[in-house]
Amino acid sequence: MRHAEFEDPRLVQVYDAECPWGPDDDFFLTVVGETPAARVLDLGCGTGRLLTALVGDRRYTEVVGTDVSSHALTLAARRLRLDRLPERQRNRISLWQSALTYRDDRLRGYDAAVLMEVIEHLDPPRLPALEDVVFGHARPGTVVVTTPNAEYNVRYDGLPAGRFRHADHRFEWTRAEFTAWAERVAGTYGYRLRLAGVGDEDPELGSPTQLAVLTIDVPDPGHREPQVPPRQEERP
Ligand SMILES: C[S@@+](CC[C@H](N)C(=O)[O-])C[C@H]1O[C@@H](n2cnc3c(N)ncnc32)[C@H](O)[C@@H]1O
Repeated sequence: MRHAEFEDPRLVQVYDAECPWGPDDDFFLTVVGETPAARVLDLGCGTGRLLTALVGDRRYTEVVGTDVSSHALTLAARRLRLDRLPERQRNRISLWQSALTYRDDRLRGYDAAVLMEVIEHLDPPRLPALEDVVFGHARPGTVVVTTPNAEYNVRYDGLPAGRFRHADHRFEWTRAEFTAWAERVAGTYGYRLRLAGVGDEDPELGSPTQLAVLTIDVPDPGHREPQVPPRQEERP
């Protein structure tokens, strides 16, 4: 059953064990740390791996995690020990059940948002709805998107050719496909775009994870474009 993983609490815990803190998380923190982001959204936060780091950083005055799965949010609350936090700390954190395919006014007005390993869990025909919800309606100042690089899959022993890395993935994109998607979204919604690879880079296949940083393209002297290292092929 698709999405079973995120609806069954036991399976969510399995996901948690399989997906420990990784280079994507460090990279995201670096990128967000380079923007004057005080209020951040973790969209599709899952069990809250990244949220714990954001909450631990006093620069972030408000940290919001959203997910379509109530079980994932329950585990995120447990991981954050929300029920034991002092009130002042607790007031900085929100966990909201929200589907990224439906506009949600609560998501408007934030400085930065991350969509980490989330887009590939949506059926491709639902992506335009997500684009509208995130870039058209919520419009965070900076949006960081990560997704697997399908070209790198041949490096994974035991992953048969043509199979996705995860049973719930609806697609996995090559670098050209992700670039085309990110360029179209940036152009449509008025964001500047930087692309990068995350993790050990293979000279032919690229990195295991691809990352896009989209920065809203409005005159705002206080909003500096994050300095993301270019992909290998862009380097001089
Ligand atoms: C692979 S997990 C990633 C979780 C977290 N971002 C991380 O990197 O550990 C994908 C998450 O996206 C959530 N998700 C999938 N479709 C969604 C949707 N339409 N709206 C909101 N969340 C969604 C799932 O419930 C799941 O928690």
